[in-house]
Amino acid sequence: MNILIIGGGGREHALAWKIAQSHHCDALFIAPGNPGTAAIGTNVTLEVNDFKGIQDFCMEKGIEMIVVGPEEPLVNGIYDFFAANAATAHINVIGPAKEAAQLEGSKAFSKHFMERHNIPTASYAEFTKVNYEQGLDYIKAHSLPIVLKADGLAAGKGVIIASNHEEALASFKEMIQDQQFGAASEKVVIEQFLQGIEVSVFALTDGKNYQVIGHAKDYKRIGEGDTGLNTGGMGCVSPVPFMDALFMKKVEDRIIIPTIQGLSKEALVYKGFVFFGLMNCDGEPFVIEYNCRLGDPETEVILPRLQTDLVSLLAAADNGTLEDTNIEFHPQSFATVMAVSGGYPGGYKKYFPINGLGAAANIAGTIVFQAGTGFEGDAVVTKGGRVLTVTAEGADLQSAVNTAQKALNLISFEGMYFRKDIGYEFKS
Ligand code: AMP
Ligand code: GLY
Repeated sequence: MNILIIGGGGREHALAWKIAQSHHCDALFIAPGNPGTAAIGTNVTLEVNDFKGIQDFCMEKGIEMIVVGPEEPLVNGIYDFFAANAATAHINVIGPAKEAAQLEGSKAFSKHFMERHNIPTASYAEFTKVNYEQGLDYIKAHSLPIVLKADGLAAGKGVIIASNHEEALASFKEMIQDQQFGAASEKVVIEQFLQGIEVSVFALTDGKNYQVIGHAKDYKRIGEGDTGLNTGGMGCVSPVPFMDALFMKKVEDRIIIPTIQGLSKEALVYKGFVFFGLMNCDGEPFVIEYNCRLGDPETEVILPRLQTDLVSLLAAADNGTLEDTNIEFHPQSFATVMAVSGGYPGGYKKYFPINGLGAAANIAGTIVFQAGTGFEGDAVVTKGGRVLTVTAEGADLQSAVNTAQKALNLISFEGMYFRKDIGYEFKS
């Protein structure tokens, strides 16, 4: 079949890499893609929110499956847009309908959903301009640290963890009164801080059944030892040593099953990936957030680790046979290490030539996934904060990380930075 991937980052490069391996895939297109995906399929110059342009393209090329990478088109209703047109309703769009995508698009929606279905999460309250004064009192009486979240999508910047009340009050004012994130922070969720280790768990669902397709630990801070500003993710490892059968059973029984049953009971149309952002608090799992897509860079480790054909799984999600599928994982450990532009997650310069991509890819057991890259003539140049990520496999996590670093040492561009301690807490 002809398949279209929407997006142009490292996650989409990994999706393209995996999907292209399937014998079900005849032609593969990526909109807009990047120089990495251009080597696997055909890049199409279409923006991810240009639904009409994407629809025309799909009709012209006979696309039968669309895999949506980023959250924005899902929250904006790409699923519903295709379903509403008789000419495209047959296309298997992987992602939730607009209403179900609110699980990621609105923190308040997801909190209410978890409350209705008794899913463990941090206690919370929500505020707008209307009950602003109560919000101030709520913060003053709250234990520290305290977590403030803009309700809507804020490009990964809408969460503030304040260590004192003054900072929390100032952030609260900025979000609600000064509209720091525009409409996204008209409503603010204030919640209890959860102490623990984070882990990202991924399921594929058809809205009734599900399969867990992988999990990973993401390293979000820019600095080694998990210090400094939050980023989109600086590296990942999979599998995670503490994700043993006992913890995974708790995650399935208390979180995944009630979530999928909740979607079904509430008739929320959801045929796609569910990303459970979890906190392991002394062996007990809590939900920090839902995302309605795969993670980045989690995808760059979970897809290499997944042995099962992804296109077959996505087709099974469409035709209701997910229950009958068998998920298999490679026995090795996987790590990915992200190389970023100097200055990221603050301001950074772009369009620096990237050297050594070929040499890095020649190291056995590695894959270079491109993210913020572009072409300048035939040359690949930097074009974003997170530039590329090297995934490697190994007999254990540490050897996977070491191999990824060895490959990264062969790559260079002006200002390049990567964390050298990915997986540090699992060092033996
Ligand atoms: P989010 O945008 O919801 O992914 O939040 C960004 C990050 O903030 C998460 O990955 C966590 O590291 C942290 N975070 C969010 N909520 C909480 C919480 N209730 N307790 C502790 N950390 C949190
Ligand atoms: N790596 C975290 C995310 O994709 O949201």
